[in-house]
Amino acid sequence: MPLVTLNEILPQARRDGYAVAAFNVANLETLYSVVRAARAENSPLIVQVYQRLFEDDRAELIGVMARRLAEQSDAPMALHLDHGGTLDRVKQALDIGYTSVMIDGSALPFEENIALTSQAAALAHAAGATLEAEIGHVPFGDGEVKLSDAAEAAQFARQTKVDALAVSIGTAHGFYKKAPKLDIARAAQIGQSVPIPLVLHGGTGVSDEQLLSAITCGVAKINIATELQNLFIRGAAGEIERNGDNFKPVDVYLKPVEAQLFDYARAKIRTLRR
Ligand code: 13P
Repeated sequence: MPLVTLNEILPQARRDGYAVAAFNVANLETLYSVVRAARAENSPLIVQVYQRLFEDDRAELIGVMARRLAEQSDAPMALHLDHGGTLDRVKQALDIGYTSVMIDGSALPFEENIALTSQAAALAHAAGATLEAEIGHVPFGDGEVKLSDAAEAAQFARQTKVDALAVSIGTAHGFYKKAPKLDIARAAQIGQSVPIPLVLHGGTGVSDEQLLSAITCGVAKINIATELQNLFIRGAAGEIERNGDNFKPVDVYLKPVEAQLFDYARAKIRTLRR
């Protein structure tokens, strides 16, 4: 089927109590592995791309491949800009056919985040796409966590017309130095105050048990980048060690790595639908 928006995937997930994996892909191998994993599970999928890949042709080229792969599949798949920083970036993604975008105003004061997100929502909706935005702040690495507030989340969702809301409940992007402990009580409060699907960023390194608890609170999209991409890099390094000086063409070299990514993505997709 053609690529779909988040609205064809997430409201049903929230209603039925499961989450859809949103994998950050960066090349053919990462894309192809997660798409094949979703197909094997007959599961919806969100393919997302960090905004730095929009600085050259990569995001567009990945989009062409994703569109083609979606058309060959019966399960719905969305193509999403992750952490768009500006309205220009949002427009660029919409122009090249992304069916969903995120505007990240989470570092701005609340009212400014509302204003920016409202503008991005208008752009996305005019293009027939969906918008994700963030309230509170999920940091990258060691940055400071700013937890989301339920009353603010409700006001934000109402005023901005955002389609999916990323919330900060104790996660961060990247590997954790100390195992994270999610604030599930806060997530539950937010879930009761906000009817739209919630998004959890920083899915790497969060235990399955905590992910499943977050899902019961209304989280319907779980973002995973670091764990998947690290598997690709470590997998390739492992192949170099195994093969020594023997030359193999790139596609042959990376086949076993793709198999690892497929297994990882398939297991994660299955867990989130438990
Ligand atoms: P991780 O890199 O921690 O998996 O987070 C991914 C993410 O939230 C992308 O927006």
